Amino acid sequence: MPQTCIAVIGGSGIYDIDGLEGADWVSVDSPWGVPSDQFLTGMLNGVKMVFLPRHGRGHVYSPSTVPYRANIDALKRLGVTDVISVSACGSFREKMAPGDFVIVDQFIDRTFAREKSFFSAGFVAHVSVAHPTCPRLGEACETAARETGITVHRGGTYLAMEGPQFSTLAESKMYRESWGCDVIGMTNMPEAKLAREAELCYASVAMITDYDSWHPDHGEVDVTQIIATLMGNADNARTMVSRLPDLLGPERAPCPHGCDRALEYAILTAPE
Ligand code: ADE
Repeated sequence: MPQTCIAVIGGSGIYDIDGLEGADWVSVDSPWGVPSDQFLTGMLNGVKMVFLPRHGRGHVYSPSTVPYRANIDALKRLGVTDVISVSACGSFREKMAPGDFVIVDQFIDRTFAREKSFFSAGFVAHVSVAHPTCPRLGEACETAARETGITVHRGGTYLAMEGPQFSTLAESKMYRESWGCDVIGMTNMPEAKLAREAELCYASVAMITDYDSWHPDHGEVDVTQIIATLMGNADNARTMVSRLPDLLGPERAPCPHGCDRALEYAILTAPE
C-alpha cells in the first residue's frame, strides 16, 4: 500500500508546522522554475509531512508571482499524496465570521496573470475540475478543526481574485449577491487546478480574517486587521494540522473520488 504524505501550503501568517520529528528544510529542483521556498519535511505520528510557505519565508512572493507550477511539481516529486491549503480569506457571509474556518469546495477563478496548467505546450490534456477539492481530505480537515474547537463551515465557494489590491465595493457586492460566493482570496487558483493535473488530492481551509468591503457594519479590509486575526488563529491552524496524520493514517488507499487518477481519460496528445 502506498504511504500517505501530507503537504500543507501555508499562506500569510503560517510559516511552519509544530512537532515534526526529524524536521529538515530541503530544496527541490523543478523544471517549472524555483519553488516559493525550501520544503520543511518530517514525520508526525508516523506520517510523512511536508510544509511549504506559499509566499516564502519573509513573505516575498505576491499572489500573482507565487510559482504555483514549481510548487505543485516539487510536492509531487517529494511523494506528496494530499495537499492542504491553509490561507487567509475574506467572508461574504455574516455567519462565516472572522476567526471561523471554511472548508472550501468550489471556486470561481477570476485570476488572469498566472500560468494555469502543466499542459500548455506540446502536450495536451484536459482534466475535470467540476469538483476541484477532495471530499475525503475535506472531511479530515473538518474533523480536525472540530476536534480543535474551531467554528468550521463545511462547503463554500471561493472567489479567487488576482489582487494585489482588495475588491471594490461593487465587486464585493457582485461576488456575494449575484455570484453566490462565500469567501474571497488571492491564492487558491491556479493551485487547485494544478494539484488536480498532478493527480494530488487537494483541500482548502479558508481562515476568515475579515468581511471584505460589502458589510455595512465593518470598515474596509486592511492588512493590519488581517494579520491581527491571523495571529489569533495561528495556534488553531497548527493544532488542526497536527490532528491530520491520525485522521488520514500512514497507508493510503486509492482516492474514492479519483483525484489520484485524474489524467486517466484526460490526455489528447498521441503517444510517441
Ligand atoms: N485575504 C484575506 N482577506 C481577503 C479579502 N478580503 N480579499 C482578498 N483576499 C483576502
